[in-house]
Formats: sequence, C-alpha cells, structure tokens
Amino acid sequence: MPTPRTMLVTTALPYANGPIHLGHILEHIQSDIFVRYHRAIGDQVYYVCADDCHGTPIMIKAHNMGITPEELIKQVGVSHKADFDGFLISYDNYYRTHSPENQYFSSEIYKKLRDDGYITTRTISQLYDPEKNMFLPDRFVKGTCPRCGAKDQYGDNCEVCSATYDPTDLKDAYSTISGAKPVLKESLHYFFDLPKFNEFLQDYVHNSGAISTAMAHKLDEWFDQGLKQWDISRDAPYFGFEIPDTENKYFYVWLDAPIGYMASFKNFCDQKGIDFNEFFKADSTHELYHFIGKDIVYFHTLFWPATLKGAGLRLPNGVFVHGYVTVNGAKMSKSKGTFIQANTYLKHLKPECLRYYFASKLTSDAVDLDLSLDDFQAKINSDIVGKIVNLASRCAGFITKRFDGKLAAEPFDSELMAKLSAIADTVNQGYASRNYAEAIRAIMGLADEANRYIDHQAPWVLAKEEGQEEKLQRVCTDGLNAFKAIITYLSPVLPEIYIKAQEFLNDPLEFKNAATPLLNHSINKFTPMFTRIDPKAIEAMIEDSKKDLAAMNATASKEPAAATKSKADGATEYEPLAEEITIDDFAKIDLRVATILKAEQVEGARKLLRLELDLGFEQRQVFAGIKSAYKDPAALVGRQVVFVANLKARQMKFGLSQGMIMAAGPGGEDIFLLSPDAGAKNGDRIH
Ligand code: MSP
Ligand code: ZN
Repeated sequence: MPTPRTMLVTTALPYANGPIHLGHILEHIQSDIFVRYHRAIGDQVYYVCADDCHGTPIMIKAHNMGITPEELIKQVGVSHKADFDGFLISYDNYYRTHSPENQYFSSEIYKKLRDDGYITTRTISQLYDPEKNMFLPDRFVKGTCPRCGAKDQYGDNCEVCSATYDPTDLKDAYSTISGAKPVLKESLHYFFDLPKFNEFLQDYVHNSGAISTAMAHKLDEWFDQGLKQWDISRDAPYFGFEIPDTENKYFYVWLDAPIGYMASFKNFCDQKGIDFNEFFKADSTHELYHFIGKDIVYFHTLFWPATLKGAGLRLPNGVFVHGYVTVNGAKMSKSKGTFIQANTYLKHLKPECLRYYFASKLTSDAVDLDLSLDDFQAKINSDIVGKIVNLASRCAGFITKRFDGKLAAEPFDSELMAKLSAIADTVNQGYASRNYAEAIRAIMGLADEANRYIDHQAPWVLAKEEGQEEKLQRVCTDGLNAFKAIITYLSPVLPEIYIKAQEFLNDPLEFKNAATPLLNHSINKFTPMFTRIDPKAIEAMIEDSKKDLAAMNATASKEPAAATKSKADGATEYEPLAEEITIDDFAKIDLRVATILKAEQVEGARKLLRLELDLGFEQRQVFAGIKSAYKDPAALVGRQVVFVANLKARQMKFGLSQGMIMAAGPGGEDIFLLSPDAGAKNGDRIH
C-alpha cells in the first residue's frame, strides 16, 4: 500500500451572476469523482469551491435588480450550493470570494508582490461613462465600426468586417449602461510584472509535471508572443476589494478569484482546526490540484503560479483542464432547450445518470464532451439498469428465498472471481489519471462477463433441478460478488447506489476490498436500486429549459441594463430621447410586416444571422446582428416581424443587406424581436 497522500482539490469558482448549468456541472462531477476515489483509497482529501463574486457585471446586475451586490451574491450562493448538493458533489466547504479571509489574503499577497518590486503603475486612458461616472470595460461600449461603418459594434472588434480596434477608435460610441457618449479619461493603473516570471513560468509549465504536454504546447504561443504586464486594478465604482494604500482603486476580479481557493480552504481550516499554513507554505508536501475549463487556462497556468511564486507560496501540483459540454452535438442553445440548468435537470432526472454518462466519456484530454440525449438514455438504461442492477436482481431472490439470505461458503467459478481483481489496476489507474472512461470500460467489461456467466449457469434452471442446491447457491454468490466488485469500483461515480448496495449486501464495501468475495455472509433483501430513464423525462426537461429561457427573458426585459429607473439614486437611466421629429419625418420611414422565410448562420460572423424575408410583394435578404439572442436560427422561421423596408441597402462583407428588422433591448442575449398581433399580412404598412 502506498502511503496516504494529503491533498487539496478545487473546482473553478462559478460567477455569482447566473444559474449553474450542465456545462458547469461537468467540472464539478469530474473533480468530485477524483476526490471520492482518493478518499476511497485512504488519501486525506480536502475539497473546496466558492462563488466568484466580484466585478462589473455582478455590480450592474445587482443594480438593475434594485438590490445590493451583497444581496445578489447571497441569493445566488444559496442556489448554487443547492445545485451542487443535488448532484452529490461532496465539498468540504463552499464559500464566496467576497469574504474577510479573501480580502486578507489578497491584500497580503499584493503587499508582498509590491514590496518585492513586482507591481508597477502607469497612467492609461480609457473610455468613461460621464453619466454613470464609471470606466467602461470593453463589453460595455458599443459604436460604429471605424472601418466599414457598421453600427452597434462592440468595443474591440467589428462583426461585420472583422476589423479589430481599440474601443476609443469606435465612431459614435455609447455606453451600453447609460447610453451616454463615453469620454476619454486618464487613470492610474496597477500592473503585475508578469514578464519578470517568464523563465520561472516556462520551467513550471514544461517541467513541473503540473501541466499536460498538450496544454504546455499551447502555452508556448503565449511565451512566443512575450508575456505582458497584467493590469490588476480597476477604478471605483467597482464591486471588489480596495487595493491597500490606494484610494478608490480595486483589485480586478481575476486577481482575487484564485486567491479565493485559499480563502475557502482557510475558512474551512478555521472551523476544523486544520493547519492551513502546512498547505500553502512554499515547501509544503501536501498536494494542490485545480480543475478548470479550457477557457481559463491562461489565468491558472500563468498568472496564478506567478502570483503564488512572487508571494513565496507553494505551487499547484496539477492544473487539470477539461473541454466544453455540447448537447446533441451543438453548443448548448437556449432556444432549443439544450441550455439546461442544473436545477431543471434535477427536477426530471437523477444526478447519477449524468455522473455516470460524463464519467463514461471523460478522459484527461481537454476535448469537448457531447451529451447526446438519446445516447444518454440508452447508456444509462443498458449499463446501470440492464447490466449492473439487473445482475444483482437475477441472483438475489434465490439467496433470500432458498438460503435464508446466506451466501455460499465458497465460490463456484474461481476464474470469474479472479477477474474481479484482474481489473483493479486499470480501474485505479483510470481514476487516478482522470481517464474515467477507461475505468468504466474495464468495469463494464466485467459486468458483461458476469452477466454471460449467469446466462450460462442459468440459476432459474438450477433452481428447478434436483440436487443442484449447492451449485445454485454458489453460482448466485458468484453473481452477487461480481455485483459487489462492480458497484464498489463505481462508488466514486455512483455514491447513492453504492449506499443502497452497502445496505443490501450488508457490508461496508471498502474500495480496497472490492474484489474480495463475501462468503458465508448474510445479505439483506434486494430492493430495486435504480429505474430506467423514461424518455418523457428528457422531453419534459427540454420543455422546462425552454420555459427557463422565457422566464429569464421576462426578468431581463424587466431589467434591461440601459432602461431601468435606478432605485438607488432616483436618476433616470433610460436611453436619452432622440431629437424631436414631425409626423412627416416619421412618415419617411416605411415600416412593413414581413415573415422570416429562412434564417441561417453566417460563416465567419460572430453576431450575424442571414435572413430571407417575405414582404408580400417581394423578398429581401437581411443580415441582422441578433445571433447572440437567437442562437437557433431555425426557430425564427415563420415568425412575423416589423421591417424597415425603405432603408438604403448596404453591401456587407457577407453580402447585400436590404433593410432591417426591428428589435428592442440592450443587445447581447437581450434582443427582443418585435412582432405584430395575429392577423397582420405580409406587406402591411405600419403607421
Ligand atoms: N469565475 C471564473 C472562474 C474563477 S476560478 C478562480 C469563471 N466562472 S464561470 O462561471 O464562467 O465558469 C466556471 C467554470 O465552468 C470554468 O472552469 C468554465 O470553463 C466552466 N464552464 C462554463 N461553461 C462550460 C461548458 N459549457 N462546458 C464545460 N465547462 C464550462 O470562469
Ligand atoms: Zn466594420
């Protein structure tokens, strides 16, 4: 037996401004299986997470809801925790980054970096919202593309002509928060001197063993481009921690977020009397592992190790990166109902179905993982119900009825018994290396074998034959011991079925003894442990997810960022009214009813959909910047819209756009197309 290890395992801290969805859940399931496995083999594992509470989007969202950010993160924190409990994620502590522990560590680490010369300052010019009195992150600025003149483009690049530029280059720029015209304003910023860590980081990434070779290769692109100074300060108003010895400067959310791992653990240590410093001192022999998605690699493999190094703290032993969840082969889509929230899933399906499905597909590579709902249903029904639970149910009745619940004193087929331990290495290696797919393949191979054995021995036939009592008992004992090994090996994945199996087999089912048969042992009556997935449950989940979208849109339209009356200061935040016009001016705009005949993605365009519209008297093609809100274009077909029919046609990179469809909302996912009431005919003029 190797000596037990002591480790701290973390999952990326979800932002506190939205619900947990099945994409997040992948990561929590992946890390939970790792943790449960290590606990099962006797390692001392601590497992923590937290909500990531800081930053502008959370501040704005709370403001629009008319509550404080503190109230928002409290509400969200409760629902996030409930979701993770629902998926049987066994956290020791689920905390928040807006905490005294995190403020303390962030400040101390910063001061150490500053005093050792790793912090520099520089004045930079940024766009500023003169109405809201705040600097605008790029995603809160829109305007006209300086190159092609397309309207309503985001601050960093143009969707229409693909130009990239600074937000200051936009023409007619406006703040998406207030609608005001931003002004340029200077401000002093604090930078973390990442380039000073160049050599250290190259060595860490390539030689420490913490980062996979494939990921290290990707990071070489960053090293080749040269590491840049990292801007770690934001000006007030900002929801975050104030930077020590400054005025109105706050830590950028990504500075204090990973420190939140430490803070959550510290909060736990203080409750349990665990020595926190043993874990984070530079020469700690305890292990530290982070599970993250592929979108946040840069933060975890460059900024975070450099921060730790500069602060004289320990480094992660592993940063484990996974890919993205897709559903039915495509990005999760709100309109298709495949953007599935954790709590919506849990209303219809058992957590262990998804745990098993994800596990059966997870490897240590950062590749995307598809939740194909048909395959999901088939796999759960065939593997968990058909092969595992069924194996027990085929044997249990005979033991209970004919042998008073007592297993035989000896196995019948020692070859089968040998196979229980033969897969142990593969299973262990699979779990330890996060190749869960491999572990599950081996376990299901054993399940197939055991089922074939039972088919062949046919206990139901033995039960009717004279003089086969002993064989019947021994064969059924073999079947149940195979079941015991299978369910014990699967305990990190299926913790609830495992508990039911412990009751049924009347044994603690220790992982290290998975392959040791129970002999001469009394078991309890078998009760079905799992039922098949009913396809109706999946359909209902998809339908509910569509309703979730509608509910989200309804809340969003109650609180669109640029059109809410602020409860806090009473000042109006509606987009300022445009200049007055006469009825004749209005009459110049020819609005018509039109039906969308065709709607499709435009290759290479991030925001546009190509629409074909029927105006009754003719058809038109339009490129509309509504993709972010209507991710499933097919769902738009047949819909009537309000169409600006006499707008001058415009040649775009992707083709000619002959008019415009009308929509409300601030943009992004909050775009709401206008439709006439039923009865309007294509081509009808709107007055
Ligand atoms: N708050 C940051 C993480 C800070 S860690 C110090 C963040 N939050 S997040 O809510 O956007 O994402 C949390 C984790 O969920 C990330 O690891 C991210 O990769 C993962 N996922 C979010 N959507 C996902 C999928 N669709 N599929 C798989 N993982 C996904 O980033
Ligand atoms: Zn452009």
